[in-house]
Amino acid sequence: MSSQIITNIKQLVNVREQTHVLRGAELAQLPVIENAYLIIEDGIIAAYGKMQNIQHSTFNIQHSIDASGQCILPCWCDSHTHLVFAGSRENEFVDKIKGLSYAEIAAKGGGILNSAKKLHSTSTDELFNHAWKRLEEVSKLGTGAVEIKSGYGLAAEGELKMLRVIKKLKEKSALTIKSTFLGAHTYPLEFKENHKGYIALIINEMLPVIAKEKLADYIDVFCENGFFSPEETETICKAGMSYGLKPKLHVNQLNSIGGIETGIKLNAISLDHLETLTEKEITLLSKWEGISTLLPTAAFFLRMTLQPARQLIDKGAAVALASDYNPGSSPSGNMNFVVALSCIQMKMLPEEAINAATINGAYAMELGKELGSITVGKKANLIFTKPIPSLAYLPYSFANNLIDKVMIGGEFI
Ligand code: NIG
Ligand code: FE
Repeated sequence: MSSQIITNIKQLVNVREQTHVLRGAELAQLPVIENAYLIIEDGIIAAYGKMQNIQHSTFNIQHSIDASGQCILPCWCDSHTHLVFAGSRENEFVDKIKGLSYAEIAAKGGGILNSAKKLHSTSTDELFNHAWKRLEEVSKLGTGAVEIKSGYGLAAEGELKMLRVIKKLKEKSALTIKSTFLGAHTYPLEFKENHKGYIALIINEMLPVIAKEKLADYIDVFCENGFFSPEETETICKAGMSYGLKPKLHVNQLNSIGGIETGIKLNAISLDHLETLTEKEITLLSKWEGISTLLPTAAFFLRMTLQPARQLIDKGAAVALASDYNPGSSPSGNMNFVVALSCIQMKMLPEEAINAATINGAYAMELGKELGSITVGKKANLIFTKPIPSLAYLPYSFANNLIDKVMIGGEFI
């Protein structure tokens, strides 16, 4: 057994004997131990407590780390990303600044189809190497677990290529990774008028291979006007579910068309985006046992009104925060900024935002028993902050790098 002890921790954050998904008022409760120690054995949290009660005689400690002045938090659990992609789209970003509309950009070959074209001409190795760099970058920013979607292939070959890259990332990375099949991201041009044809391709050509090679944990659909209707979403999800893939869906980013009712009916693990919500939908989500995942940096980047986090939490919803890291609507996977933006613009309390980005993010990937809190038996994925006066300083001092080091599975990266 290799054991290490971390001593003199100013604040050990999100310490929980047992965990469950946090809903409503529970999100504001962030348990902290002041002046704490933490023992890690073989990459797993083994014990913790107050410095004055330190007990390590039962452990064969080989290594000691002094964390004076530092806070230690569980790593961010980023439950919604598209971080496997072939190229950036800053030209579209500049076009938008100059006043071009989404439709005009799409007519110039932009948007998801632009990413699909780029992906088609990129080799598996290149795709892997780019994604690997992004994973390294986000892990230095404190992310310890991440969900990654396909969705820029839009044909069997490209979708499988993306999912095989995600599978290789899972095998090689120290981060915990979940994989989601998003073949239904948009209709490829040749199927623009033949929705049934593309859905048949997803069901008959893609899903059987995905199941056979165990390439995905979840199924996702972009349920919006101009993309996939609630009925189409249901058909695709049910096909995925017949292979054991549970739904995690893109709903209500742009329109309120029934995606939420469909997701609830299908028992989705999470419903994600949620920029555009009616009162009725807020009530539905608040009573629902699944997770409402907010992606504020996507709304920020697209200059949209941010998600109604306050109303959702005040009504009792289980809210998680994620980055949506992708080249079109959120070209950043920085969860520190997601947390800060949530506090600054959505009026989440620092405690709520930290819980939503850690423990609830873990549950949004069904990793709640392994990650997202300081709990004995969980993986030692830890953020060591620079000396900070208090936890609220993290979102307050937004866009400053307040992370000193990050530990994944008991090892500093
Ligand atoms: O989650 N909205 C759908 N999908 C992505 C954006 C995709 C893209 O523009 O590349 C999102 O925001
Ligand atoms: Fe997304």
